Amino acid sequence: MNFSELPGIDRSVKLSDLGEFSERLSVMTNELRDQILAPRPRKTPPSFTIGELSELCGMDRSKINYLATKEGGELPPGEAHGTGRARIFSLKDVRTWVQQVSDIYQTPLVTGTREHRGRVLITANFKGGSCKTTTTMCIGQGLSLRGRKVLVIDLDPQASLSELCGLYAEKDVSWEDTVLPYIYDPTIEGGLSTKVQSTYWDGLDVIPAHNYLHDAEFHLPTAQKSSPGFEFWSVLRRGIEPLRSQYDYIVLDTAPSLSYMTLNGLMAADSMVMPLVPESLDFISSVSFWSLFAEVANGFVEHEVDKTYDFISVLLSRVDYGTTSSAPVVRSWAQRAYADWLHTTEVPASSVMSNGALAFSTVFDLSRADSVAKTLARVKSPLMEYCKWIDDQYVAQWRAGQ
Ligand SMILES: Nc1ncnc2c1ncn2[C@@H]1O[C@H](COP(=O)(O)OP(=O)(O)OP(=O)(O)O)[C@@H](O)[C@H]1O
Ligand SMILES: [Mg+2]
Repeated sequence: MNFSELPGIDRSVKLSDLGEFSERLSVMTNELRDQILAPRPRKTPPSFTIGELSELCGMDRSKINYLATKEGGELPPGEAHGTGRARIFSLKDVRTWVQQVSDIYQTPLVTGTREHRGRVLITANFKGGSCKTTTTMCIGQGLSLRGRKVLVIDLDPQASLSELCGLYAEKDVSWEDTVLPYIYDPTIEGGLSTKVQSTYWDGLDVIPAHNYLHDAEFHLPTAQKSSPGFEFWSVLRRGIEPLRSQYDYIVLDTAPSLSYMTLNGLMAADSMVMPLVPESLDFISSVSFWSLFAEVANGFVEHEVDKTYDFISVLLSRVDYGTTSSAPVVRSWAQRAYADWLHTTEVPASSVMSNGALAFSTVFDLSRADSVAKTLARVKSPLMEYCKWIDDQYVAQWRAGQ
């Protein structure tokens, strides 16, 4: 048989075929999600052992046991579990304990609103897959475990953060639910307040994203050209302003590009976290972020628009400590390049985190029962330490009445 005479496979693809193809893919991804995530509630927060509660409150177990079981006590007693009747606490319980008995400074509330201005953090980096979204969610969860009230805003059309918050972006989120209506009409009363949704995680709210967020990339430059006095870079900042009295922290997650939306985030933020995976291409990409951002920033400064970041922090993430890893070399480059900005805490690479992505979860979503305590602690501890560091920066300002 002469194979060269067999009819060839037609591999041509027309633009007009793509619609049907993407329909088929979305049916498949919906099925996958249905398999991975249980039906509603799609995500549930973890429960906490008395040991974890004791660490979070900085109080020994016996004192917690005493307070939990004290007659007439007002702290949540948790639930006795299993044969040993060990106490298990819900996330809500834990937050109440931290707020009431830990020595972490708690921000005073006056008739439900905060006396101080909530602070806006942003995670940014050009490089795709550089742990921005994971870091955003972990910072949100970590700060909430310090008793803080946190809002996360998803500015990435990929909507991964929204998924980590337990939403199916394609199904549960519409154009209306995102920051877009406000971007199109910044005169909306209350700014972005009406877009906030609560999540499965007590103390953590979200404004989700959808693929439609790409629309902003056309709208913002067009509005800049057609409306005199329009400032494309300050729309988000203004929209967030009314939310500052409702939250201690507002954390923005961005797309891996210097898009109009990312720029809006960068101009709205009080401080910036750049997660950096210590690999050579990631390092080079982080450097090009700064050269491009500096160029855009220069344009702003020429128009007398300036701002100050309280801090810029580079956080080495997904660090591989194996013998063949490029981390030691790239860490030394990062030390030279970023000096004081490079944080001493590092987040190790861990299968807990990479497997977590499969279930749309982070290390904070796991209970001690789900994994070996030591394995969890290897990733959780540096992240909690990092959250403490961020919090310490702002507690000092809040205490000084700023
Ligand atoms: N410490 C870690 N150990 C192992 N895997 C990790 C760790 N942190 C994050 N990851 C995994 O790395 C991948 C990329 O992370 P993530 O989605 O947070 O990056 P990103 O910068 O937001 O990506 P994008 O640019 O696409 O928005 C994910 O699969 C995530 O689960
Ligand atoms: Mg992301």
